[in-house]
Amino acid sequence: MFSKRDFLSLADLTPAEFNEWLHYAIELKREWKAGGNPPLLKNKTLGMIFTKPSLRTRVSFEMAMRHLGGHALYLGPEEIGLGKRESVADVARVLSRFVDGIMARVFAHSDLVTLAQFSRVPVINGLSDASHPCQALGDMITIYEQRGALKGVNVSFIGDANNVATELTYACAYSGAHMTLGCPAQYQLGAEELAKAQWIAAQTGGSVTQINDPRAAIEAADVVYTDTWISMGQEAEAAVKMPVFMPYQVNAQLMSYARPDTIVMHCLPAHRGQEITDEVADHANSAIWDQAENRMHAQKAILVKLLK
Ligand code: CP
Ligand code: NVA
Repeated sequence: MFSKRDFLSLADLTPAEFNEWLHYAIELKREWKAGGNPPLLKNKTLGMIFTKPSLRTRVSFEMAMRHLGGHALYLGPEEIGLGKRESVADVARVLSRFVDGIMARVFAHSDLVTLAQFSRVPVINGLSDASHPCQALGDMITIYEQRGALKGVNVSFIGDANNVATELTYACAYSGAHMTLGCPAQYQLGAEELAKAQWIAAQTGGSVTQINDPRAAIEAADVVYTDTWISMGQEAEAAVKMPVFMPYQVNAQLMSYARPDTIVMHCLPAHRGQEITDEVADHANSAIWDQAENRMHAQKAILVKLLK
């Protein structure tokens, strides 16, 4: 009845669409740096549901809407009580009568699926326990800027094969890049996600490999990427996870096995002294601040593609 498109995972796109969105984001960034974007989303509104904290996702979406002539509305956990004060389906039914798009950050990915099912307007995944597709789209802008290409680039993810790693793997697969995940055996990418990523990579000339040795994982890397070992909602697992992940810390010693020009990325927030050390995060080869900025340019492309 209502024609709309949601964005819950990069895996929902075709390789051609992925490239189109990515290059549109790069074009919007160039345009923004040259003086500003036209008001492509004039008078459009984005409702932003957050059940977890955020700096980058909230501010980048809010600024993206503002730069495009629209408006974003922050709805924190206290206002909505998603699934507590009111059912997820009812929130979707009501909110989508008011706004032109919904961005949601949730715990259970199934909450996003329910929001999408009952919303009349597009639903965008602003992070779930399973995936963080907006992050991955922005990250490919950064890798492209740093390496001048995506096809054939060696990207290594070190640490917990989590929500960020999952979508980054899809993004690398779409790009024809070679993704190596160096993760502890019990924290690797799930079989389904791995198969999906390898299926995508088979169409683009990319590859996806999982190993357990962090040193071997970074030896050929153009890009080393890490993220927290304790994602939001996993705090109770910290005592178990921390010792397992210590050998996966991205520090100067580990980076000494990579090439001298290998860049380092982190989606942030960083837990300095855990998954990454100061000397690496603040090194000249660190791309993490450009990476944070590129979130905003990626959000603009996503918003225009879905809301215009
Ligand atoms: N990288 C990221 O999504 O950051 P926030 O949690 O601050 O939004
Ligand atoms: N994996 C992290 C990403 C934060 C942006 C988390 O889910 O907490």
